[in-house]
Amino acid sequence: MRISVIGCGYLGAVHAACMAELGHEVVGIDVDERKVAELSAGRAPFFEPGLPEVLGRALDSGRLRFSTDLADAAGAEVHFVAVGTPQTKGSHAADLTYVDAAVEGLLPYLSDGDLVVGKSTVPVGTASRLSELVRASSGADLAWNPEFLREGFAVKDTLTPDRFVYGVARGETGERAAAQLDAVYATALAAETPRLVTDYATAELVKVSANAFLATKISFINAMAEVAEATGADVTQLADAIGYDARIGRKFLNAGIGFGGGCLPKDIRAFQARADELGLDSLAFLADVDAINLRRRDRVVALAGELVGDLAGARVAVLGLAFKPNSDDVRDSPALDVARRLRASGAIVTAFDPEANATAGRVAPELEYATDVESALRDADVVLVLTEWTEFRELDPAVVAGLVSHARVVDGRNTLDSVAWRAAGFDYRGLGRP
Ligand code: UGA
Repeated sequence: MRISVIGCGYLGAVHAACMAELGHEVVGIDVDERKVAELSAGRAPFFEPGLPEVLGRALDSGRLRFSTDLADAAGAEVHFVAVGTPQTKGSHAADLTYVDAAVEGLLPYLSDGDLVVGKSTVPVGTASRLSELVRASSGADLAWNPEFLREGFAVKDTLTPDRFVYGVARGETGERAAAQLDAVYATALAAETPRLVTDYATAELVKVSANAFLATKISFINAMAEVAEATGADVTQLADAIGYDARIGRKFLNAGIGFGGGCLPKDIRAFQARADELGLDSLAFLADVDAINLRRRDRVVALAGELVGDLAGARVAVLGLAFKPNSDDVRDSPALDVARRLRASGAIVTAFDPEANATAGRVAPELEYATDVESALRDADVVLVLTEWTEFRELDPAVVAGLVSHARVVDGRNTLDSVAWRAAGFDYRGLGRP
């Protein structure tokens, strides 16, 4: 099938490369010339395991190309819209400027029978509005097909997702749209991947409610961490114990400095803003989910302060800057936020992340960046582990003890072996742990 993908950020670049991997003929289109040049040369503009390989294969096969010109979408039958929906400045609502511009820009290049497919995360009601625009100006139709990929697993999640959700119009047009999407995803569907066909509103809500549920699960365990801190209990054991209940499950119950990234924080805020517009109180609890999440960052800064006495002038080694491991993404990263707050409190912060030093350096030039973990640790008064990279989890505490000036560690992700670190002489502090 001939496919266009509008927007080659995280979602679009991965989607374009993976659609070509599946055998489709794909053009990826983005307004950013540098990004298009990088992708055309086979270089992923961000760190994502497996993407360079898929990108290279797709470009070599001749099935994938990139362009800055929307006119290159002409001739494709299915047009994926994968542009960003950031948080609007000064409000919590989603900014739909890029989605609207992409769909409006596509209109002159659509032919009868084409399908525009929204992938971006949007407020409920958007697809219905855009479908009217598409139908009024062309013989094309619109579907909403939310994306559930996780950074760090983006290629796998795109090629073999948990499920497909197609939000389509009612009646025959919707059936035709579903059949077109079935043709796009034929490989995964042949492996019996579940597929749900819904109306537009349900498909839009599936995406934001999935992210709201995940955020709530994380804040639930972080709230338990606060209770554990007040009572001497251990939240990691608590999570293991409740996680054995199959109805609860152990995934997304890791207490620590909380969630960040380009999706969960902005999505729960935009979802609340949309509920407010609809006159609903139903999502008021998400304000607490957000607040619990942000309080954990205060807690880590306070713990570091307790350990060193006075943060002003203290040498702090920050291990981890990305919002999660296997990513160089620092958007709304709890780790980077904590590092910056420590610095603002007068600490001398030396940070290291295996992949995110450069991305962090662009937004936080005030921090010192070490080129390796040993240099970050040298002479530190306290060590903070803020992203659970394997490299940090596997550190030998006895070796670390020989590098730092004081053996104190804050485990912001409850990822270290507390017994081993204490045995090596460390004053160890986890979150929600005695
Ligand atoms: C999230 C969703 O998991 C994807 O399904 C969704 O497609 C994506 O957003 C999106 O909307 O595009 P992602 O942002 O890659 O994916 O990150 P997650 O793996 O969900 O992690 C989010 C944050 O939660 C990270 O900062 C992570 O460290 C934190 N987290 C996760 C915890 O603090 N505790 C946990 O137990 C799990």
